[in-house]
Amino acid sequence: MDAIDDANQLRETPKNEVISFFESAPLLKDAAEIEKSLKEFVDRNTSSSGNLNGKANRVVCIASGGTTVPLEKQCVRYIDNFSSGHRGAASTEYFLKAGYSVVFLYRRGSCQPFCSSLPDDPLLECFSVADDSSIEVAEGILLKLPFTTIFEYLQILQLISVSLRDVGPSAIFFLAAAVSDFYIPWESMALHKIQSASGPLDIRLAQVPKMLSVLRNEWAPMAFHISFKLETDTDILLAKATMALKKYKMHMVIANELSTRKEEVIVVTEQEKVTVRRDCTRAGAEVESPLVELVVDRHSTYIKKFDA
Ligand code: PMT
Repeated sequence: MDAIDDANQLRETPKNEVISFFESAPLLKDAAEIEKSLKEFVDRNTSSSGNLNGKANRVVCIASGGTTVPLEKQCVRYIDNFSSGHRGAASTEYFLKAGYSVVFLYRRGSCQPFCSSLPDDPLLECFSVADDSSIEVAEGILLKLPFTTIFEYLQILQLISVSLRDVGPSAIFFLAAAVSDFYIPWESMALHKIQSASGPLDIRLAQVPKMLSVLRNEWAPMAFHISFKLETDTDILLAKATMALKKYKMHMVIANELSTRKEEVIVVTEQEKVTVRRDCTRAGAEVESPLVELVVDRHSTYIKKFDA
């Protein structure tokens, strides 16, 4: 699901693909409650006095964990995208320490901030439509919004970006989630468990429109945008990251290689390429600590441009 298609990278995201993705997606449960929580959260943390944590008005949306693509409406089987959610959870902790308020958009059952191991959730329970709301607000500066499927992820991301629009350049989108590139449109999805008696299964997957350009250009044009690039082949990693920076007009692309992602990442911007490493002389040190420090520094420079 993460295979990169060069031709697709160079293609603009057609508007009709975006519209048809949202029109055909199953309605987001709790949309009204999510919008209300977001509004309260933004109002509380972007008042003239700023949030209780000190860095006035700065908010980061951290997307974390992998999205799933269900194969059946009453889902028994699904295609998953690899991500433990560790990057997003650890980064959340460092952004909070740096004085940001955080909207944590996370995959149900993935790593959580201030809680180093994975919760013990049976994965399939995540697909049943739960009646209880799982929106959580911790001490007013951390809003946790869960997703499981690609449909939920992109719909909630849109709600977040609209809510953060007035925060302008003080908002960051830190998109560490591993997002599905292909999906089965809801209207062509089987309702019940697909039966194996009819032999091998042929499925045609539609392409998920790349939402980075829509987010950057339309949903939150003033915010500071950071996307990630994951590869297993180091030889193509930097080229792919640089391509994403240009194509989606990102302010920063964080390039990481699967096997070394906990040791080092390369931060790519228009001006520089900086390798950020975990401090291996300190037990328990994480690469997210110097990474978030660098992001906060570059974000401060970005905000200053608007003050001038
Ligand atoms: O969670 P961990 O186990 O700690 O691992 C962290 C990580 C390796 C998952 C993380 O550091 C990382 O690299 N995340 C992005 C992984 C990825 O597969 O990205 P991508 O190539 O699918 O997408 C690139 C960017 O485009 C991402 O920022 C994604 O949010 C965005 N995207 C992708 C598909 C799509 N249809 N629309 C998008 O906007």
